[in-house]
Amino acid sequence: MDRMLALILLCPFVYFTTVTAEQDNVCFRPKLAASIETDGLQRFFSPGVELTLSCKQGHTPVSGPRKIVCGGSGQWTKTRLMCIPKRCPNPDPLSNGELYYEDTVFQSTINYTCDEGYTLTGDRAAVCLANGTWSTTVPECKPVTCGLAPIPHFGMIIYDKMIRGNTTNYSVGGTYKCPPPYVLFGNSRAECTVSGHWTKTPECQVVTCPAPENIDKGYISSTDPRDYDYMETVKYGCNGDYVLEGSLHIVCQQDGNWSEKPSCKAPCSVGMQKGRILYKGQKIWIKDLQPNKVLHKEIVSVYCMDKARKCGYAVSTQCIDGELKIPECFEEPSGVDYTIHSSSLPSEIEQC
Ligand SMILES: *[C@@H]1O[C@H](CO)[C@@H](O)[C@H](O)[C@H]1NC(C)=O
Ligand SMILES: *[C@@H]1O[C@H](CO)[C@@H](O)[C@H](O)[C@H]1NC(C)=O
Ligand SMILES: *[C@@H]1O[C@H](CO)[C@@H](O)[C@H](O)[C@H]1NC(C)=O
Ligand SMILES: *[C@@H]1O[C@H](CO)[C@@H](O)[C@H](O)[C@H]1NC(C)=O
Ligand SMILES: *[C@@H]1O[C@H](CO)[C@@H](O)[C@H](O)[C@H]1NC(C)=O
Repeated sequence: MDRMLALILLCPFVYFTTVTAEQDNVCFRPKLAASIETDGLQRFFSPGVELTLSCKQGHTPVSGPRKIVCGGSGQWTKTRLMCIPKRCPNPDPLSNGELYYEDTVFQSTINYTCDEGYTLTGDRAAVCLANGTWSTTVPECKPVTCGLAPIPHFGMIIYDKMIRGNTTNYSVGGTYKCPPPYVLFGNSRAECTVSGHWTKTPECQVVTCPAPENIDKGYISSTDPRDYDYMETVKYGCNGDYVLEGSLHIVCQQDGNWSEKPSCKAPCSVGMQKGRILYKGQKIWIKDLQPNKVLHKEIVSVYCMDKARKCGYAVSTQCIDGELKIPECFEEPSGVDYTIHSSSLPSEIEQC
């Protein structure tokens, strides 16, 4: 009666036909589990009609009678037939890869993927077939390999590890080198990539520098007016009392320019006529400095007077490329002081 009520609520038409069916004692098409099928396709069945049940494709019957009969009261006889989906065997593991599946029953799928550095040969997916077998065999994950790395003209490669044979595995790397006068243009690192190809090969190109220029007040080891190769060096020197500042050598660089040239720095004269200086650890009268010349970067001290305390003190100054500044506290003595009272000069009296 409950079923009747439900049908009435659902649809008046159904209610009407149901009433008709009840009156005629016919059976409706039976309601069966989704995995069960039957040979009768019509909507109504007369009392006494027998239907044969079977399991749908990919399912196996486990229990219960395979037939139902339309009873006199419009009811089908009960069936306890159960159909369970076929199960495929558990899939074998995939070495160097992964398999993804949720179930192994009929129509389940397995997806296969390979670890990075491996390529899949075979099918990427398998389906559990109606007969309980997988549609494909387990694929294989084969390591990605590259051939030997292409080598640039005039260059070479140093592999990170020993290579046996003429193939390399994925992720094997190396470093390209171009011997001088060649310079490497591009990426010096090489690697066997996932695609089975090497990274882009760099080029080895000759690099030259123009003939180097001489420096002011100096000389150069080679005056050959030719182009110089990458990594070639020339040497500089300075004339006379000039002092070389910077690097003695310059080298032809990758960019075709020379490294920075040194320069020659001028000596200085100590700009005083009368007085004593401290030079190279010795106190000497300026007239005894012959010639009056100190070299670039050399340090000279002059003597100043602390008038309040009546004592003398040395103040140092440095020769910088021909210029030696006399400290402001220095006072050139008068001729009389210098010749007669020389013992009262700041360099001679008690030091502060
Ligand atoms: C397998 O791959 C298909 C398509 O890429 C996807 O729709 C499905 O969800 C995957 N199944 C599993 C179990 O990962
Ligand atoms: C299962 O079915 C597939 C496809 O219909 C067929 O190729 C295969 O041979 C069958 N396997 C067995 C064990 O019957
Ligand atoms: C790789 O080496 C094998 C055996 O040493 C040789 O038969 C094959 O021709 C080589 N392949 C290439 C591309 O050089
Ligand atoms: C390359 O990889 C395979 C598999 O991972 C390994 O068996 C083999 O020894 C490797 N070859 C080299 C030269 O490392
Ligand atoms: C090379 O020297 C030239 C001239 O001094 C300069 O213009 C150029 O930028 C230098 N090249 C490089 C790569 O430093």
